[in-house]
Amino acid sequence: MNIKDRDGLGKIATIKIKNKELEMPTIMPVVHPNPKKQIVPIKIIKKFTKIIITNSYIIYKNEELREIALKEGVHNLIGFDGIIVTDSGSYQLGVYGDIDVKPDEILLFQDKIGVDVGTILDIPTPPDVEREKAEKDLEETLKRAKEAIKLREEKKINLLLNGTIQGSTFLDLRQLSAKEMSSLNFDIYPIGAVVPLMEEYRYKDVVEIILNSKMYLPTNKPVHLFGCGHPMFFSLAVLLGCDLFDSAAYALYAKDDRYLTETGTLHLEELKEFPCSCPVCSSYTPKELLSLEKKDRESLLAEHNLYVTFEEMKRIKEAIRENSLWELVEERVRCHPKLLEAYRTVRKYISFIEKFDPITKKSAFFYSGYESRFRPEVYRHKKRLKRLKYNKVYITDINKNIERPYSENLNVVETDVDILIKHPFFGYIPYYIDTVYPLSQHEYPELYEFEYDKDFQKDFLNWLKNKIGEEKILDITTYNYYINYFKSKEFNSDSYRIRKMLQYQYGVDIDLEFKVERSKNTGRLRYVYLEDKLVFSVRSYDNFLIPTKEGAKLLWDYLDFPKYRVVISEEAEEFAKKGRNVFAKFVVDCYPNIYPYDEVLVVNKDDELLAYGTSILNSRELLEFDSGLAVKIRGGIKGG
Ligand code: GUN
Ligand code: ZN
Repeated sequence: MNIKDRDGLGKIATIKIKNKELEMPTIMPVVHPNPKKQIVPIKIIKKFTKIIITNSYIIYKNEELREIALKEGVHNLIGFDGIIVTDSGSYQLGVYGDIDVKPDEILLFQDKIGVDVGTILDIPTPPDVEREKAEKDLEETLKRAKEAIKLREEKKINLLLNGTIQGSTFLDLRQLSAKEMSSLNFDIYPIGAVVPLMEEYRYKDVVEIILNSKMYLPTNKPVHLFGCGHPMFFSLAVLLGCDLFDSAAYALYAKDDRYLTETGTLHLEELKEFPCSCPVCSSYTPKELLSLEKKDRESLLAEHNLYVTFEEMKRIKEAIRENSLWELVEERVRCHPKLLEAYRTVRKYISFIEKFDPITKKSAFFYSGYESRFRPEVYRHKKRLKRLKYNKVYITDINKNIERPYSENLNVVETDVDILIKHPFFGYIPYYIDTVYPLSQHEYPELYEFEYDKDFQKDFLNWLKNKIGEEKILDITTYNYYINYFKSKEFNSDSYRIRKMLQYQYGVDIDLEFKVERSKNTGRLRYVYLEDKLVFSVRSYDNFLIPTKEGAKLLWDYLDFPKYRVVISEEAEEFAKKGRNVFAKFVVDCYPNIYPYDEVLVVNKDDELLAYGTSILNSRELLEFDSGLAVKIRGGIKGG
């Protein structure tokens, strides 16, 4: 898997399935294997997608279809040369309680008809069953999973495999399922048996099931949310790390004259105008559609449903590219209180999610409501406040109308006192790092008193008192007195600022005199020098300190091993030294606290510095991925 862009646990990534490249996240329309039963003909489906899902059990049970599939292959049967995924009959098992095919039979059949990705015959346990039943079903699913992998190891089958996660609504069973399945070499991990939950709007349960599974699933394999075809849930599911979706909804909803939108479902009879401009909606009025024959109407409605389904996925991908997926989700969850409720439970899992959330983003943080304060950026800032070294501190309130960055709009006498500016949800913004993402790069409306994070401020203040002693926290009188005393001293506040920024970004204190160069136009920091050697540039959109070769050496010198190291194998050393990108298969170890887009040091096993660059992956992924880009190298150390 190769990750191109990311936000939250969501990512745009490519994988190879039988030599066909697939970009995720994406939707697999459910296509009936019998052309006569396809509501939207395959030639229209093809316009939307390179991957579809169909049901091998239906083919297996129908003599005519089976003959063609066995003779000509499933791709010819359906008339689709993209990726074909098949389900196994588990769904029918869930609905009818029984089916007449054995687990290995249906696997052999899927393989024989040339399916690209097949599915084991897992048991979809419904929600809220007796625990004993959920355990028993899961045990059986795991047994079948092991047998499937064994069948492939014995080369009796050769197709890629879906290994479905089950466990009903018991979250510990979902965890167990994910752990056990992870140790088996499946290619895709679907999360199963969520359809009944989705149908009852129990999105909160779905969110918890996704997260409890994700925590223990391998990071380098796609996750498919089985049976989730409504676009209003896509953005949240992608944010939580789901890569694949299947949609029968586009057709099923059309059968009942239901019209999908990205914010909910409408009924054709309720509509005077179509809130959409797809080819169907721009050619017909609701009234005209209603006057058509049932079959034609159904087919046109299904086509519209496909348009909005794929449109929402494209919108999600754009949001990932500009790192505004959280904002999109916060918009979507307001479409239904049950969705909002589901989003609110995400907070419980923030320490897990935060590790995958990019350390820096292209878009500003937009506050859209109370839930925004529990986003990773806020959680992380509160942790990172403790990375700064505090000497003397002055805490102050600020007029809400002062624009950020504060340091450009406040008239502050710059001293070695750390000014902490109270902030309604970031807690405190240290004056000297106020230009760093997200401390200036966020927007929020005037907030109510109750929305202020007073608990955090209190806790942090206690931590600070413990750390530096109460007497070092200055009140206004002592602070003013100190400023007056300070005026006579020489103070390189630029250097002090750079030191603080290094503490915040890398957790290191480099006690040296830095010199800075500012932009002639904006007056903003541009370059950082150490004795005339350029060590960092200050990236304009997030004010991160981006090391030069000299800067990387400096960091390597000051950061104790293993901080910010990515250790690579010997065979990749020469490439890295020459400044070539580092691929995940060469990573042998790393600092356990690397976030996506952190600036890292690439070293060998003896901690010799080889190169420096941006990690595309977090620590866990660096170790788990065996293909794809790991570190985008800025430069190698070749030649000293
Ligand atoms: N389709 C919808 N849910 C499921 C599930 O849990 N397992 C399988 N195999 N297919 C499904
Ligand atoms: Zn439309």
